[in-house]
Amino acid sequence: MERTLCILKPDAVRNNNIGNIVAMIEKAGFRILGMKLTRLSATQAGAFYAVHKERPFYGELVTFMSSGPVVPIALEKANAVADWRTLIGATDPAEAADGTVRKLYATSKGENAVHGSDSVENGRNEVAFFFSEAELADNA
Ligand code: RTP
Ligand code: MG
Repeated sequence: MERTLCILKPDAVRNNNIGNIVAMIEKAGFRILGMKLTRLSATQAGAFYAVHKERPFYGELVTFMSSGPVVPIALEKANAVADWRTLIGATDPAEAADGTVRKLYATSKGENAVHGSDSVENGRNEVAFFFSEAELADNA
């Protein structure tokens, strides 16, 4: 079974879309292994998105991701990484396909409602960033 990390970003939480997006996740057949509401410090947000540190949008991204509560969700499913990326849609909601999370709930390219891991390796590492093995459903 493959794991991937979803984060409901601060805009999704602020706009009361936690339930709407979790419903899409459940309907698409993902198993929720872990879920919590938490807030990232700027240091934690910067570390999570460290791969983008040289990009022009990095400062804005760190400020946004630490601007309010987020909901990290550890997901499991066959082909979880690719299937979650397909369900969330393109980074820019203007380019996201109909019926995708970002098409429905993102407001802009920066404030785009959800995160999805971009590889199987990053999926495992990003789940571990937020959850210990002991708190995931298989071990709870
Ligand atoms: P994510 O990592 O959050 O799932 O998003 P992604 O793979 O679709 O996009 P990525 O290239 O990894 O960018 C990470 C996040 O940075 C913000 N961003 N803003 N203003 C901009 O041009 C811009 N580009 C990226 C978005 O929040 C994006 O999701
Ligand atoms: Mg990314």
